[in-house]
Amino acid sequence: MTPPMSNTENGDETVLSVKNLEVAFPVRRGFLQRQVGTVRAVSGVTFDVAKASTLGLVGESGCGKSTTARAILRLIQPSGGKVEICGTDVTHLSERELFPVRAKAQMVFQDPYASLNPRMTVLETLREPLRVHKIVAGKSAETDEVVRLLGMVGLDPSAMRSYPHEMSGGQRQRVGIARALSVRPKLVLLDEPVSALDVSIQAQIVNLLSELQDELNLSYVFVAHDLSVVRHISTEVAVMYLGRIVERAPVERLFEAPIHPYTRALLSAVPMADPVAAKERKRLPVLGEVPSAQYPPSGCAFHPRCAAKRSRCETERPDLTDRGNGRSAACFLEGG
Ligand SMILES: Nc1ncnc2c1ncn2[C@@H]1O[C@H](COP(=O)(O)OP(=O)(O)OP(=O)(O)O)[C@@H](O)[C@H]1O
Ligand SMILES: [Mg+2]
Repeated sequence: MTPPMSNTENGDETVLSVKNLEVAFPVRRGFLQRQVGTVRAVSGVTFDVAKASTLGLVGESGCGKSTTARAILRLIQPSGGKVEICGTDVTHLSERELFPVRAKAQMVFQDPYASLNPRMTVLETLREPLRVHKIVAGKSAETDEVVRLLGMVGLDPSAMRSYPHEMSGGQRQRVGIARALSVRPKLVLLDEPVSALDVSIQAQIVNLLSELQDELNLSYVFVAHDLSVVRHISTEVAVMYLGRIVERAPVERLFEAPIHPYTRALLSAVPMADPVAAKERKRLPVLGEVPSAQYPPSGCAFHPRCAAKRSRCETERPDLTDRGNGRSAACFLEGG
C-alpha cells in the first residue's frame, strides 16, 4: 500500500523527501579489479522539495551532485537513507515497482547530444515514452501529443522530423526537456541542464524551465556548479561539499547572509553590483583544490581550504544545524 502524501507544516505537498542519503562506490584497482577502497560520494544528504518549488543543488566538480540526483531516481542504488517520491518510499522498490514512479520523476541531463539517440528523429524520441507509459493511444494521438510537447518547449512542429545532429544545442535541450515532460512528471531532476550551452542560450532555457514550472506545477532539483545559474529559479539552495550539504537556505537569504565560508567563497565568484559587499566577500578566499573524495580530510572536510578555520575544525565535524529563518549550516562559526 502506498503511504499517504506527506505534508509540510504550512500544508504544502512534499513531492520529494530525501533523508540521510548515502552513496558509496567501491574503488577498484589492477588486473583483478580488487576493491582497494571506498568513495563516499554522498553522505547524510537530507532535504525536501515541495510542490511547484525548486531546490538548487550547487558545489564544485566531484562534490556528489549528480550522484545525489541519480540515487534519487534509483539510477544508482543508494547505500543508505530513504527517498520518497510523491509519498512513495522508492529506496527498495524493484525495477517493476519503480515503473510507475519513473513517470512521476524524470531527469534532464547536461549534454542532450549524449542523452538523445542519434539515429532517432525527434518524433521517434518523444513517441517512445508515450508508448512505454501508455500516455496516449494510437499513432495520430501520439503525433498530436508530440506536436503539443514541442509547442510547450518552444519548438516548431516541423522539428519532429529532425535528427539531433541537425539541431542546435539549445534546441536539443528543449527536446530533452520535452522528453522528460512527455510522461507528465511531478518532479524533474535537472543535472546541469544549461552548463553545456552558450551563455546567451542558458537564460532562455532557464526561463523556459521556470515558465513550465508555473504552468505545470512542477518541482525541480536543479543541479549547477554556479550559484548565479540557480539564483532566479530556486526556492531554496543547498550547497554541497565532498558529499555533504554544508549549507541550506531560502535562496535570497543565502545570497544576502551566507554562513558557511565555502558558500561565501562560491558567492565571491558571482558578479555583484555592490562594490562594498563585493570587497567584504573577498576576505574569505578558498585555498587550493577540492581534496580527494576517497581520502576526505578529518574534521570539517573543508578545513584545509578554509581561511576562517580554528583548531577544532581539524578534528571535529560540524553537524548541519538550524540557524533560523529556514537556514542551516554545518560550521562552528557563529552566524545566522
Ligand atoms: N560510478 C562511479 N564509480 C566510482 N566513483 C564515482 C562514480 N560516480 C561518481 N563517482 C565519484 O563520486 C564523487 C561524486 O561525483 P559526482 O559525479 O556525483 O559529482 P558532481 O558534483 O556531479 O561533479 P560534476 O560537477 O563534475 O558533475 C566523485 O569523487 C566521483 O569521482
Ligand atoms: Mg555532475
